[in-house]
Amino acid sequence: MNGPLNGSAIVVKDLSKHYGSGARLVRALDHVTLTIPSGTVFGLLGPNGAGKTTLIKVLTGISEITDGDATVAGFDVRRQSMDVRARIGWVAAEVILDDDFSARENLWFQAKLQSLKGWESRAEDLLKFFSLADRADEKVNQFSTGMRKKLEIALALLHQPLVIFMDEPTIGLDVSTRRMLWDIVTGVHKEFGVTVLLTTHYIEEADALCDRIAIIDQGRILAEGTPSELKSRVRADIVQLETVEPLDAARLSRIPGVQEVRAQGNDWTVRVATADDFLPRLFASVRTDQIRRISVEKPSLETVFLEVTGRRLGQDEPIRDVRRFYAQMQRARR
Ligand SMILES: Nc1ncnc2c1ncn2[C@@H]1O[C@H](COP(=O)(O)OP(=O)(O)OP(=O)(O)O)[C@@H](O)[C@H]1O
Ligand SMILES: [Mg+2]
Repeated sequence: MNGPLNGSAIVVKDLSKHYGSGARLVRALDHVTLTIPSGTVFGLLGPNGAGKTTLIKVLTGISEITDGDATVAGFDVRRQSMDVRARIGWVAAEVILDDDFSARENLWFQAKLQSLKGWESRAEDLLKFFSLADRADEKVNQFSTGMRKKLEIALALLHQPLVIFMDEPTIGLDVSTRRMLWDIVTGVHKEFGVTVLLTTHYIEEADALCDRIAIIDQGRILAEGTPSELKSRVRADIVQLETVEPLDAARLSRIPGVQEVRAQGNDWTVRVATADDFLPRLFASVRTDQIRRISVEKPSLETVFLEVTGRRLGQDEPIRDVRRFYAQMQRARR
């Protein structure tokens, strides 16, 4: 049995992973440094191609490290790969269940593959925990997507790992199944005391589920912290407004609490200390019939993502002037 893990579940130091060479060189991971405290649900948040799966692959020993160091559960990923493997579970994005087997037979098969001993009572506990006990002897091809996902997680937990990796555990699932899975991940972490490293490109999921989040883009970690630490990096609200007629920018800039004003025609983006203070002052200074549209964006992981990567998740093209906008405002604050 694996003992409890104190301190850091995963430590990554200056780790790089390259694919190909020459003109085809891909820096899938570019000098990544990261510490994942034991007992946390840790999220790697990033767009397609950010390097999320690559990081899981190098930490699980599936893929070789190009440069740098990593330890998982206290063991060196390169030099002690068997020790690492004995202590980790992996829920891949691909399906790994055998459809012709029942849930119980899938667990049995997993136990054989890993040469486990005394696994039977653990398997029964897992079936109960995942509410699969009643259906345990049905072939899994009759299972719903959510049930299959639960069984996949059960298989990954069978050998009592200390750390479990989940690559995009909710990708392609409908909203209600996704939420059910969030509860499962939180429950697994509490009930079995495992550290969870999951990847996602859903901001909402990272926010709801993770104790800590690292934002990864183009192989680099751009920010790391608890969701509220990350949000506190953006200490301003963004007010977007469209006016009927052109305005004098100085009129907006003079309003107390305004940090930056940018205009594109009659569209204004105003960064303010707090929208609650700004809006009454705005309405005192600009007639409301002059305002066609107004919206407020409060600090959120979305705005953090925008600030550190220069684009919104799901958008491929950088919004270059927004980035410049943020950069200028940051400089102005210092
Ligand atoms: N076997 C490989 N050979 C060459 N390049 C690869 C290989 N695997 C990944 N890459 C490249 O490495 C980069 C990171 O890929 P990775 O799969 O880690 O991203 P990801 O964050 O998991 O993306 P997604 O959200 O699409 O799953 C991408 O540019 C990808 O094309
Ligand atoms: Mg991936």
